[in-house]
Amino acid sequence: MSTTAQTLDIGVLKRLKIRCISETGWFDNATVFGDIIKAGGAESDQYRIPWPPFGALHADNAAGFSTLLEAETTDGVIRRLLFDTGWNPAWMDRRFTEEGIDELLRQGQIEALIISHEHFDHFWGIGSTLRHCPDLTIYVPEGFHPAGFTHIQQQGHTGRVITVASDQPLILFPGLALTSFPMHTLLQVDGENVLYAHLQDQGLAMVTGCGHGGVLNLLDYARRTFTGGERIHAIYGGLHIAPLEDWDESREQLVKTLSRYGIAKVACNHCTGRTAVEKMQALGLPVVHGTARHGSQTTLFLGNGDSLELG
Ligand SMILES: [Fe+2]
Ligand SMILES: [Fe+2]
Repeated sequence: MSTTAQTLDIGVLKRLKIRCISETGWFDNATVFGDIIKAGGAESDQYRIPWPPFGALHADNAAGFSTLLEAETTDGVIRRLLFDTGWNPAWMDRRFTEEGIDELLRQGQIEALIISHEHFDHFWGIGSTLRHCPDLTIYVPEGFHPAGFTHIQQQGHTGRVITVASDQPLILFPGLALTSFPMHTLLQVDGENVLYAHLQDQGLAMVTGCGHGGVLNLLDYARRTFTGGERIHAIYGGLHIAPLEDWDESREQLVKTLSRYGIAKVACNHCTGRTAVEKMQALGLPVVHGTARHGSQTTLFLGNGDSLELG
């Protein structure tokens, strides 16, 4: 927990299980991006689009991103966190029931909710979480907008909301740190929280919602910031490389560079894009595959109901 030789020692975890509750932000790209274009394009205010839960527009297409982290500390204590809370309340209610998240929340076995960023597919379904545990502590990134805080209040929240200051890693418990990165992206969203775990004898694991800050930037930050960062053991989550399945030379170079980081387990999904994951596989990256259940459409990457076990 001390800073030595310019790196931050966050401690270590014995084990980390990352369970994908839902990586499907939505089911059809054309529908969701058609709605964004109709709403005024990429720079419009996301809260003005009448998607669930604010409006019924294309409710059948809305799903959401949410992940359960179950960590075991070196003294054998299990600590659970929910990382994002998805979008469509009907979809999140279903997935939470299927994975027993509702019960864990009711029993107080999930200690906090981390919102990676304010995008609709990661955050708007917060009512599905709070109805089981209204006083849950919530972490949001710096840059969160007033409309987001209002939404949290309107969904009946009674607990603490902690804004993570940019570039000031917060050690949630030994072996797990949360960093807020400044960024500005699609639909006026600012700031993204990224999790870094240090696994005993294995190295670092990075967990992202969308990775809008750029996967290489987020990994380079870990390398220079955290003790043990020279060894990136695993990555999980959305990497926003080719969410629309478009491909170009800069994406090709990005994936080639990523292949030289020596990562042992690459469990990217969500907005990474199928094309990007296929390229990773072709370059020999150790892509973790899934089972294509519960709405996930491919076995190419880790999907809904699949887990990544580290440690
Ligand atoms: Fe997303
Ligand atoms: Fe996003």
